[in-house]
Amino acid sequence: MEQITNYPQIQANRIPKHVAIIMDGNGRWAKKQGLMRIFGHRRGVDAVRGAIEFAAEVGIEYVTMYAFSTENWNRPAIEVNALMQLLVDSVEKELPALMKNGIRLKTLGNIAELPGNCAAQLKKAEEKTKDNEKTTLVLALSYSGRWDIIEAMKKIGNNIKEGKIQPNEVDDSVVSAALNTAQYPDPDLLIRTSGEQRISNFLLWEIAYSEVYFTDVLWPDFTKNHFLDAILDYQSRERRFGKTTEQITK
Ligand code: IPE
Ligand code: IPE
Ligand code: MG
Repeated sequence: MEQITNYPQIQANRIPKHVAIIMDGNGRWAKKQGLMRIFGHRRGVDAVRGAIEFAAEVGIEYVTMYAFSTENWNRPAIEVNALMQLLVDSVEKELPALMKNGIRLKTLGNIAELPGNCAAQLKKAEEKTKDNEKTTLVLALSYSGRWDIIEAMKKIGNNIKEGKIQPNEVDDSVVSAALNTAQYPDPDLLIRTSGEQRISNFLLWEIAYSEVYFTDVLWPDFTKNHFLDAILDYQSRERRFGKTTEQITK
């Protein structure tokens, strides 16, 4: 059997192509240490670095990370501002590592809503990393699943109005193609940290058949070994897509 250096436990022929992660628990991590929430977010960046490195090492092609939701705009301004500054600083600081590890950065969400310096820094990093081929890191920012579905409905509605498509021609593939995630395969695995067992408006359309993995680990504590556990758990599952076991295993 083909093996992955460093992780011989992993079945190399069953690596998820796309892993989506809801990085949750930064605030609780900080509170446990008696620190302000922003310190949890800062440590969260270290966990992001580790997770991306792991993904590149084991050959996961796409990782989508939920970094800031549409609803997170409702947090206190002091936290939102600190998060935006952390985003700018981190993207700049991590750029050499992204280049070294062959990571292509993409963004997903209503980027126009972000402060100008954030949007500019992200654009710069996207441009710089665009030819990297190992792993694509999709950062979901000012994103929510419903936002994207609404955007897609507007596009499809306009296309119907202009006669480019008939209403009865709208199917799975038309909707998928109208989403901002059209260029990525649907996630095979969705991970959420911090013990919460909900989706919080993440990739609603795309996770229709994703395997879901919840862990109590708070995001700043999430290491490569925790990621490995999630992959091994994923590899132990049978994905049936509505069929029977017999159909899948024959
Ligand atoms: C996740 O950690 C990061 C963001 C949502 C930006 P939280 O900030 O939600 O941390 P908890 O859930 O309050 O512990
Ligand atoms: C989900 O976490 C959003 C991100 C991880 C960016 P939240 O902490 O915002 O989710 P809820 O509010 O607990 O559902
Ligand atoms: Mg949270």
